[in-house]
Amino acid sequence: MVADNLLDLSHAPYLHPFLTPKEAPPPEFRIERDLRQDGDTVWSMHCNLNSRITPLLAVLWPDSPPLIEGYFDMRWQPPSNLLMVAGAAVMDTQRQEGAAIPMAHLLTPVDEHTTHYFWSQARNRMVGIPAVDEQVRIGINHAFEHEDEAMMAECYALMGTADLMSLKPVLLPGDGPALRTRRILARRIEAEISVERRAVQLRRSVPFPSAGPRAAKLLKAQIQPLQQLARQWVARRVASRDFGAQE
Ligand SMILES: [Fe+2]
Repeated sequence: MVADNLLDLSHAPYLHPFLTPKEAPPPEFRIERDLRQDGDTVWSMHCNLNSRITPLLAVLWPDSPPLIEGYFDMRWQPPSNLLMVAGAAVMDTQRQEGAAIPMAHLLTPVDEHTTHYFWSQARNRMVGIPAVDEQVRIGINHAFEHEDEAMMAECYALMGTADLMSLKPVLLPGDGPALRTRRILARRIEAEISVERRAVQLRRSVPFPSAGPRAAKLLKAQIQPLQQLARQWVARRVASRDFGAQE
């Protein structure tokens, strides 16, 4: 549910005054949204063109132009590690020339009903100023704890279950990224369960070695291919330096 919320940031205008422009959008204001998937990585892209700047970004970029490109692109990787590439830029220019506030959101379930939520944020403007550190930290903490968390706790109480899909929810276009991640997680969990089931079946089907030399020979014949597969898997991971770590 926390990941669902992070993957649909269209809720910001309804929930987060610190993360939403104070002034009404101008007539040329335009929203662009996109969903991208690369393997098991899902991107939920948001872009506000010809937008006013948010109070948060105004702290970091006090002399920004009146209209900017506001962007917040959320990348999700399993099991629930998210990177938000966010900030504001002068319209039709390189984003790195504006104010950038990349954020990490790391989610780790405690049990069926609760989740640890770790976040961190960096910035490219007003760096090394403790007063700005504190202003940003307080503003974002307030948004997460008193706006997002409060809203989700209320929703969860109304749902009465951790199984959202069992409620047959009406799905809107903005729910696309979250649904993709739910499908990826379901597939990967099912794959893990299948491997465990296969291991249990194998253990049950293999005769105990002390049953005699023929049984020991049979056991060896069944285990050797698995050992070979494991060695190949480790060799591939070492060769690609991919040890399963997320960025
Ligand atoms: Fe939020």
